[in-house]
Amino acid sequence: MKILEIEGGKTLSGTVRISGAKNSAVALIPAAILSDEEVTICNVPEITDIEALCEILKYLHADVSRTNDSIVIKSNHMENREIPTNLSKKLRASYYFMGALLGKYGYVKMRFPGGCSIGARPINLHLKGFEALGATIKEQHNCYLVEAKELKGANIYLDFASVGATLNIMLAAVKAKGTTIIDNAAKEPEIVNVATLLNNMGAKITGAGTSTIKIQGVSSLGSCFHEVIPDRIEAGTYIILGACCGDHLKIENIIPEHVEALTSKLQEAGVPLEIGIDSITVTKAKKPKAIQVRTQTYPGFATDFQQPFSVFLTQCEGKSKIEETIYENRFMHIPYLTQLGADIRVKNQTATIIGPTPLIGSSVVATDLRAGAALVIAGLIAEGKTQITNVEHIVRGYEQIVEKLTNIGANIKEREI
Ligand code: EPZ
Repeated sequence: MKILEIEGGKTLSGTVRISGAKNSAVALIPAAILSDEEVTICNVPEITDIEALCEILKYLHADVSRTNDSIVIKSNHMENREIPTNLSKKLRASYYFMGALLGKYGYVKMRFPGGCSIGARPINLHLKGFEALGATIKEQHNCYLVEAKELKGANIYLDFASVGATLNIMLAAVKAKGTTIIDNAAKEPEIVNVATLLNNMGAKITGAGTSTIKIQGVSSLGSCFHEVIPDRIEAGTYIILGACCGDHLKIENIIPEHVEALTSKLQEAGVPLEIGIDSITVTKAKKPKAIQVRTQTYPGFATDFQQPFSVFLTQCEGKSKIEETIYENRFMHIPYLTQLGADIRVKNQTATIIGPTPLIGSSVVATDLRAGAALVIAGLIAEGKTQITNVEHIVRGYEQIVEKLTNIGANIKEREI
C-alpha cells in the first residue's frame, strides 16, 4: 500500500504549473470515439483515471496511443462490446461511454456500479435524457442495456444542473436526427471544453456554458486536434495551500475566471492575491478572518473546493461555516482534521469551524479524492509528521503531486508499506 509522509510547518514558495483538467479529459476521451477518424487530445494529465479510460478504449479495440501529454484515438476498428465491471468501476466517469457508444452505435451494454463514498450519485437524469432521445433502457444488477432504433432530437429539462448528465446527453445527441435542447444544463467550463471538441469534429452545438444547450444532429464526425483546459480544481487546491502556508506562491497555467468564486472568498477572508492573465500569486494572510461559504453549481463555489477550503478555515479567526449543497456525504475528512487538532462540528450539511487552531501531525486516511487533498494541505501546515494512507484516491486526480509540492519546498515523500 502506498502512503504519503509529510513533515509540515514549512512556508512554501516558487511556482506550480497546473495540468490539464481531469473532469474535462475524462469526458473528452470517450467523446473522441464518436469520430470516424483520428482525434488527438493534448494537455491530458498523467493520472490513473486517464489510464483507466484508455484501458476501456483498448478493451473496445480502439487504437490508442499516448505520447507525453497527448492521446491519439482512432475508433474506426472499434468493437461495441459490453464493458465489464472490473473496468467501469475504476472511475465514475466511465459512464460517459454510455452516451458515446449510444451516440455512435445506437446501442450500449455496460456494467456500472454507480455510487461512491461522497454520495449515492444516481444517474437517473442521464437515463431520462437517453429515453427522451428515443432509447429504451434495461437495467439489472447494475448492468445497463441502452438501445435506440433511431436517436431523435428532443427537448430535455434537467431537474438538477448535473455535469455528468449534461455531457452524457450531449454525447448521445450529437448524431441524433433533428435538434436537441438541454434546459437547466450545467455551465461548468468542462462542458464548454467538450462541446468545443465535438464542434471541432463537425458537431453543431451552441449554448455550451449557458443553461440552454442546442444540439443539431449531424450524420458523421471527423478528425480534430484539441486541448484540455487547465484543471480549475487542481488550481484551486494549490491556491488554498498558498493561503495556508504560501509566500508569493505562484500558480500558473490557469484561467482565473474559472476559480473566481474561490478567489473572491479568499479575498473576503483577507488573503492577499495577485491575479494575472494566466496565473495567481498567493501569500498566507497574517490573520485571515472567519467567513461563510455555500457550495453551488458553476459559477458558484465549487463543491470540489469544499474539503480543501475547510482546512484553510481552521486557520481563520472566529467561527466559519461551510455548507455542502451538492453531495450528501462530503464531510468524511472532518474526523481526520479534528484528529489533527481542528475544532469542527458538523450538523446536517453544514460544518462549523472555530479557528485558528494549531494542527499537529498524525496518521490519517484519505477517504476520497478531495478529502485526500484536504489532508495533504493539513499535513503541510501541521507541526511534525503526518502520514496519509489510501494515496490512490489522491493520485487519481492530482498529476505529480509529490513532485509539484517538493519543488515549492514541501517535505513530502511517497512510500510503499
Ligand atoms: C462531476 O461529477 C465531477 N466529476 C465531480 O468532481 C463534481 O463534484 C461534480 O461534477 C459537481 O461539479 C467529474 O466530472 C468526473 P453531477 P458528476 O452530475 O457529473 C446528483 C471530483 O472530485 N445527480 O453534477 O457526477 C448527484 O447525486 C469529482 O473531481 C442526480 O441526482 O456531478 C450529485 O448529488 C467529485 N442524478 C449532484 O447531482 C443524476 O442523474 C451533482 O452531480 C446525476 C446527478
